[in-house]
Amino acid sequence: MRIYAHRGNSSVYPENTMAAFRSALHVGAEGIETDVHLTKDGILVITHDEDISRVSDGKGQVKDMTLEELQKYDFGSWKGEAYKGEKIPTLKELLDLIRDTDLMLNIEIKMGFVLYPGLEEKLVEMIRAEGFLHRVIFSSFNHYSLALIKQLEPEAKTAPLYECGLFQPHDYAKTLGASYIHPSYTSMDPRLLEDLRKNGIGVNLWTVNDVRTAHYFNTLGIDGIITDYPEELIQALWRP
Ligand code: G3P
Ligand code: MG
Repeated sequence: MRIYAHRGNSSVYPENTMAAFRSALHVGAEGIETDVHLTKDGILVITHDEDISRVSDGKGQVKDMTLEELQKYDFGSWKGEAYKGEKIPTLKELLDLIRDTDLMLNIEIKMGFVLYPGLEEKLVEMIRAEGFLHRVIFSSFNHYSLALIKQLEPEAKTAPLYECGLFQPHDYAKTLGASYIHPSYTSMDPRLLEDLRKNGIGVNLWTVNDVRTAHYFNTLGIDGIITDYPEELIQALWRP
């Protein structure tokens, strides 16, 4: 079971910053989950919300600011003074950080409250050009976005995100051409998992933050979990 650090090692470091990603590497995560948006000047940047006010000392929407404007803000202090000065990362910075590792990267396309024209095209182009196609899973709650990714790049691995109640997820994943599904862990059980496995669909669950649940899904043979606590879960599961 692969452990993905959700927004980096986000229980300790400010989420979706280079500090959180470096820490994910350091604690031995085998994957990183992160969220992408598009700036006003068309740069792929990493942050969770459409608006930067929760995680920075700025205000406003990513789509209305250039990268230069966004980089003036502090994305670390909200988590603690020790992290003051963390900037919003570009996707390219994250790719450079993990280039010489074997980490998987789960890129969540944020395409809901704000629709970013051309985001999928830019994303596929970058992932291809940087040689990361085999290491990336594209996920989104917007499944039209994932269909477009597959259309742009048939080799891309995609994963629909959902909370609950998807009917026959193995059939749905096949219809979408998805390699994985990414449901909330509360929506997965052994019977569904068996159907998915028979159909060659992988499963990564979010957001598993306790050892007991992680252990249960590891025993079931799930492909991966996405967690805010990569260090604790790695220690508990692999170094009991
Ligand atoms: O990809 C798993 C999880 O990140 C989806 O929800 O809101 O944390 O991006 P969210
Ligand atoms: Mg996410």
